[in-house]
Amino acid sequence: MRLTMRVYFDYNATTPLAPEVLEAVIATTRDQFGNASSVHHFGQRAKAVLDEARSSVGALIHADPSEVVYTSGGTESDNFAIRGAADALDPGGRRHLIASAIEHEAVLNTFKALARRGWRTTLIPVDHSGIVDPDRLRELVTKDTALVSVMQANNEIGTIQPIAELAAIAHEQGALMHTDAVQAVGKIPVDVRALGVDLLSLSAHKFNGPKGAGVLWIKRGTRMQPILTGGKHERSRRAGTENVPALAGMGVAARLAIDKLASEAARVGALRDRLEEGILRAVPGTSVNGERSRRVPNTTNISFDRVEAESLLIALDLEGIAVSTGSACSSGTLEPSHVLRAMGLPTHRTQNSLRFSLGLFSTQEEVDRVVEVLPRLVQKLRALTGTTKLTKNTKVFS
Ligand SMILES: Cc1ncc(COP(=O)(O)O)c(C=O)c1O
Repeated sequence: MRLTMRVYFDYNATTPLAPEVLEAVIATTRDQFGNASSVHHFGQRAKAVLDEARSSVGALIHADPSEVVYTSGGTESDNFAIRGAADALDPGGRRHLIASAIEHEAVLNTFKALARRGWRTTLIPVDHSGIVDPDRLRELVTKDTALVSVMQANNEIGTIQPIAELAAIAHEQGALMHTDAVQAVGKIPVDVRALGVDLLSLSAHKFNGPKGAGVLWIKRGTRMQPILTGGKHERSRRAGTENVPALAGMGVAARLAIDKLASEAARVGALRDRLEEGILRAVPGTSVNGERSRRVPNTTNISFDRVEAESLLIALDLEGIAVSTGSACSSGTLEPSHVLRAMGLPTHRTQNSLRFSLGLFSTQEEVDRVVEVLPRLVQKLRALTGTTKLTKNTKVFS
């Protein structure tokens, strides 16, 4: 079968490299092979590349470059934030950690690991809006709490959390505030000072940069223990020879994100809305999951009544259209989404929802193709299962 066009609507899983990023990665790989810790010419040139990228990433999140610590990506940054803060605050007797119930597995499974080592962990519940209510945090945080971790934007439904308010509440009790901004960076403004956080994670491959490169921003003066011990890299905060080409690529991606943020948010937002409206109009028995008015502009998560999401995902893939059933880690399994479950959606909706996430190279033609193809595929799958009864289409979470 020859496909007429391939559509990639899975930008929240990962993004294609911007051409300028690819060029920077290739040029740095070829020309700057030095070890950035070496004192000679080759090492110093590699260090200059790292410094320039550090300034660019700092500018993207309105941070001082000296507070930007390179990591291997979002998972390491989240681990570093939580384990590093936990280790630093443990001697002071703070052995309680709080996160939202809709965090990425990088946070949730790190919490589980620390719980096995005796830490008390609490998850803040969310309602069907998919947004954390600051009053819930106020009820849970105590003088024993070491760290509160709430993501700035959710990877599955795109909802944006009230981080500044949550940070103020955490600080009232002397706890540190971490935000996983992996899905926010490049999509909405991210300003570490305005957010009022102490720690912020980001990952290059979510904003057209290379995989295996990320940052943990650590506010000056924050007590942290390293989780990778060894040499004195990154001012002794994270040992290991830096991946200079990937970090150079992240720097270029950061500059592009700064330049294009406003225009891309408007363009991609209009495409996402066209897609969402188109699907709700063309496919009966569909509804959007999560509060629509407080989302990153590129993401929509839609329930298809009486359809198994995995089957629809495969049917779409056969048509050349790539989407996701939620977090990349759980795709390929029939695990219901922990995010939709935490939002209190009925079981069938945790298993019949697809995430469409758009980005830099998405076009209107692609959107229209998906809206054209979907009704036929959904109808076919429903016919296979002999389903006729559908609930009424809803435009809001319900
Ligand atoms: C919210 C969030 N946090 C963390 C990660 C992990 O980032 P990385 O793939 O760079 O390890 C992801 C990736 O899916 C994510 O969406």
